[in-house]
Amino acid sequence: MKYHAINNQLFIKNRAKFTAQMKPNAIAVFNSNDIFTTGADSTLPFHQHRDIFYLSGVDQEESILVLFPDALDKKHREIIFVKETNDHIAVWEGAKLTKKQATATSGVATVYWLSDFDKVFFDLMTEAETIYFNTNEHYRQSVELESREDRFIKKVKDKFPAHNWAKSFPILQSIRGVKESEEIALLQTACDITEKGFRRILGFVKPGVMEYEIEAEFMHEFLRNRSKGFAYTPIVGSGYNACVLHYIENNQPCKDGDMLLMDVGAEYANYSSDMTRTIPVNGRFTDRQKAVYNAVHRVKDEATKLLVPGTLWAEYHVEVGKIMTSELLGLGLLDKADVQHEDPNWPAYKKYFMHGTSHHMGLDTHDYGALKTPMKANMVFTVEPGIYIPEENMGIRLEDDVVIKETGAPFNLMRNIPIDAAEIEDLMNS
Ligand code: GLY
Ligand code: MN
Ligand code: MN
Repeated sequence: MKYHAINNQLFIKNRAKFTAQMKPNAIAVFNSNDIFTTGADSTLPFHQHRDIFYLSGVDQEESILVLFPDALDKKHREIIFVKETNDHIAVWEGAKLTKKQATATSGVATVYWLSDFDKVFFDLMTEAETIYFNTNEHYRQSVELESREDRFIKKVKDKFPAHNWAKSFPILQSIRGVKESEEIALLQTACDITEKGFRRILGFVKPGVMEYEIEAEFMHEFLRNRSKGFAYTPIVGSGYNACVLHYIENNQPCKDGDMLLMDVGAEYANYSSDMTRTIPVNGRFTDRQKAVYNAVHRVKDEATKLLVPGTLWAEYHVEVGKIMTSELLGLGLLDKADVQHEDPNWPAYKKYFMHGTSHHMGLDTHDYGALKTPMKANMVFTVEPGIYIPEENMGIRLEDDVVIKETGAPFNLMRNIPIDAAEIEDLMNS
């Protein structure tokens, strides 16, 4: 791992929050992700499943966490299974977690080798009445691959058909949505690394530079600051490319006079940051570019103020739509008739701003978190309005990550990342 060790109190607290919501005499199981193959004997770098990480800090493949708060044998109330390490593995892959290290990482006292799982699990299931399965019910999920978790669920349903089934997801959704102070500190570190990358490219971007060269500069800065790299596939799009919302080719030259949109964030310790900045390739905004830029900036600032305890996500989006409509009228992109005759299901502003303004942020970039109930303190959201004008070869989006406070304005984790148009120009020309 490149990141500094995390105090295991975080994972102890997270498990306590999960088990407090379990039914009596129930067991919950969380599996690692698979390591994905790319052909022959090659694999992609391992990415831990966020739920087992959230509940244990164990960042290793083929690990299983079992929570059984009512187990008769106290030492079986929490168990971690890790694959047995040996000298051969130590030479070829580097040492895997020992039992002692697994305990130090997670705060779970009982650690067994994975080879003991079937025997121990059968014994626990003879005591348990209900088993919690960790199905993926994220509102944006569309996963075709069968995960380790899916295979486990199939196996258990087949072997233990008389048990009750329950869902882990609603519990995880509610607890992962509200961040602990340790998590906010990790998110801040991820944002700070992103800031370093952005400051680096401000001195690098000029007409003729390739989009992928900018991507490389970010990666350089991320890796040297203990990040594994990008929290999500980066978007580095200049000119018209900035209007393609999911543009990830990043293979075109940045042209004099164009704007450059960068939706780029570092991960740190599996926590995401999610930033968008848009800058003039030649270091100077035209009047038109500055007018559109400042409109987006004002929408971002106004939208941020609405992120307070009690706000409903759907109503928030309606309010942001009104703010954006007024800016688009000011820019002459909409006229009053467009607004008077708009379809309430697809308001006029959507022609230039067609995506959402905010999503939860955390271990996943589009993180778990309740969206139908009022917002709470310590939820972390992005704020990311944009105006896309393909006929002018210009797309401008600005995105910060903010923490909702008990009272007052949200705390901006990206407060130190330059955003003011004059500051961007100064830094690009210094
Ligand atoms: N980078 C993905 C997003 O902004 O939602
Ligand atoms: Mn983003
Ligand atoms: Mn985002």
